[in-house]
Amino acid sequence: MNRMSITRYLIEEQQAGRINADLRLLIEVVARACKMISIAVGKGALGGVLGDAGTGNIQGEAQKKLDVLSNEILLETNAWGGHLAACASEEMDHSQPIPDMYPRGNYLLVFDPLDGSSNIDVNISVGTIFSVLRCPDDVAIVGDEHFLQPGSAQVAAGYAAYGPSTMLVLTIGHGTHAFTLDRELGTFIMTRRDIRIPEETQEFAANVSNQRRWETPMQRYVGELLQGKDGPRGKDFNMRWVASMVADVHRILTRGGVFIYPLDEKIREQGGKLRLLYEANPMALLVEQAGGAASTGRERMLDVQPTKLHQRVPVFLGSKREVEHVVAIHREHDASA
Ligand code: AHG
Ligand code: MN
Ligand code: MN
Repeated sequence: MNRMSITRYLIEEQQAGRINADLRLLIEVVARACKMISIAVGKGALGGVLGDAGTGNIQGEAQKKLDVLSNEILLETNAWGGHLAACASEEMDHSQPIPDMYPRGNYLLVFDPLDGSSNIDVNISVGTIFSVLRCPDDVAIVGDEHFLQPGSAQVAAGYAAYGPSTMLVLTIGHGTHAFTLDRELGTFIMTRRDIRIPEETQEFAANVSNQRRWETPMQRYVGELLQGKDGPRGKDFNMRWVASMVADVHRILTRGGVFIYPLDEKIREQGGKLRLLYEANPMALLVEQAGGAASTGRERMLDVQPTKLHQRVPVFLGSKREVEHVVAIHREHDASA
């Protein structure tokens, strides 16, 4: 059987001139870190890794032991290869330059080390999300400000999903491809090339418990979905919500759907729930590369100019026609307001 390992895929992309050696190494190292995280997640209670770390992050969220461990794994594996200038993470207040003792490269790595961590203790899928940016030229000391690039500047993005199988879904800007971890070999093998998200869907993902606090256009949108074939949409919609963005987006990449995390009254001040740099942008690039769309409701996600490292945004992504519908509802609402 002719199996395409991630190593071979990356070497062929390098030979085709689409990535350089440093970016290839970077993605290989992130994939290795994800294997290590997958092993830790898989041990569960037997590994003593469940439960709270007893600390909090800058976003005011309680950290799980696995949030902290996954962050350390990603930092340590990426420190010494010479491919990075700095890292930034959901779990760190500020970006962290590569230590002086190691060679410095030209890329910036941003990650959500463990996404969906409220699901760890109940043995439901979690993941790791990452995004790669170029470090601007002539930067002596890398700081948070150098990470404030729009998602369209990403040179690679992906996630690992730790579910019944561990998968790595990756884009280097030439399609979105999925690899499944062969646990015996310890190798990611390509199992889907050039994922295409169906343009139409009858499935949505939202935490509907927030509905009464959403903005008017979203109350209307989901209200219409819930009316099904008796309402203006003329068809029934199904709902799924894992509460791990990685798992919800993975389902959408697999069979279509729309993921929505709108602004609501409770989170208005902070701008949204999900983080632009290490949740929304990498997912937006993966989804666009698979023929889907991603928006804040009022702007293409990948065009948003970040102003803060931990900036949050409303998120609508998935099947193209459905995201376009969400954007149209926002436009109509704003025009009449
Ligand atoms: P994280 O665990 O990295 O903080 O992210 C959790 C996010 C995302 O994965 C998920 O879609 C969303 O939070 C779930 O939010 P609710 O708890 O409101 O359902
Ligand atoms: Mn997350
Ligand atoms: Mn997280």
